[in-house]
Amino acid sequence: NNYCVILAGGKGRRLWPYSRDRRPKQFIDFFGCGRTQLQLTFDRIAKLLPKDNIIVCTNAEYADMTHEQLPEVYESNFIIEEVGRNTAPSVTLATFMIQKRNSDANIIVTPSDQFVLNEDAYAENVRKAFDFVSKNEKLLVMAVKPTRPEPGYGYIQIGDNMDTSGVFSVKSFTEKPEREFAQMFMDSGEFYWNTGLFLGSAKCFSNSFPKMFPEMHNRYEEERKEGTPSEKETFARNNYSSFPNLSVDYGVLERCCDICVMTCDFGWADLGTWHSIYECMSKGTDDNVVVDSKVILDDSHNNVIKVSKGKLAVINGLDGYIVVEQDNVLFICKRGDTSSLIRKYVNEIGIKF
Ligand code: GDD
Ligand code: MG
Repeated sequence: NNYCVILAGGKGRRLWPYSRDRRPKQFIDFFGCGRTQLQLTFDRIAKLLPKDNIIVCTNAEYADMTHEQLPEVYESNFIIEEVGRNTAPSVTLATFMIQKRNSDANIIVTPSDQFVLNEDAYAENVRKAFDFVSKNEKLLVMAVKPTRPEPGYGYIQIGDNMDTSGVFSVKSFTEKPEREFAQMFMDSGEFYWNTGLFLGSAKCFSNSFPKMFPEMHNRYEEERKEGTPSEKETFARNNYSSFPNLSVDYGVLERCCDICVMTCDFGWADLGTWHSIYECMSKGTDDNVVVDSKVILDDSHNNVIKVSKGKLAVINGLDGYIVVEQDNVLFICKRGDTSSLIRKYVNEIGIKF
């Protein structure tokens, strides 16, 4: 009864110029280990579920790349979105598709841009989480203890203990807070990071459809459908471009009340920004982080460096910088939160490299 939805349609722009619109970070073998982030995500989940039960959602632009990277996944298990509408419409469509196949299904949704250090602990947590949602009509998010005031994540304030397996009620959820709030959240000790992994029964997921998309739901009702999962799936597919752009975090987690959280400890990291990569990876000589690259470093400290295969970076006297070279772009800037900086170059100035 257990299914998985892998979300693989994001653009990962905050890791520009390494992650590009034409090849976002989930399709890249970041650590040079031979498998891309998407493939590693699939491998992790394929150890726990039969591959017939693994659904992969991506944007039409990345359909070929996704097929190529995951030849193990059945054709009928791909959802190809003709337009990007963020994660909430994607999860909604996947839910209807799964519900059509199995009305008693339980679902785990996973991002494809994350790093898990302890796979055994991850597997144990996922098993427990499935067990919880099969017995409780609630959504369950998996969360980890924060280690720094990172503004790029969602923060979950935990409430009362629900059972003995580390499941708590959720007091509040805040997606991507300002840095000062992130610091306060962390200091309070009550907040956990949202890993983006969440579970629920298909029934529970589909109940949130009207809450997330009232207009779409009204339109659906007006067409006087019976409301079978099959009809809902067809409706969602045919009207995909009419869905508003909405992430699950803003659409469900910030709005919905019947949510629980499982506190986990499986060595989790999101490879979201250059700064977060610097923070989570182990530091080499002089506290530099060199990601799968050839580099000669002299009198240089606290830098994060990534250059493409076959290139050599020679760096002297550089402190606290990001140096990234990929294809036709060389990006050098001070380490720190580069999200708005990159947005400026990629979105506003319109660097289409
Ligand atoms: N299919 C599909 N379609 N997938 C998408 C789309 C889409 O339109 N947009 C994004 N995704 C995928 C991304 O590829 C990624 O795997 C996942 O959905 C999450 O999207 P991100 O864009 O990476 O979200 P985020 O990192 O800013 O924030 C989320 O993850 C954090 C932890 O990594 C939130 O859930 C935060 O609360 C959380 O802390
Ligand atoms: Mg992400």
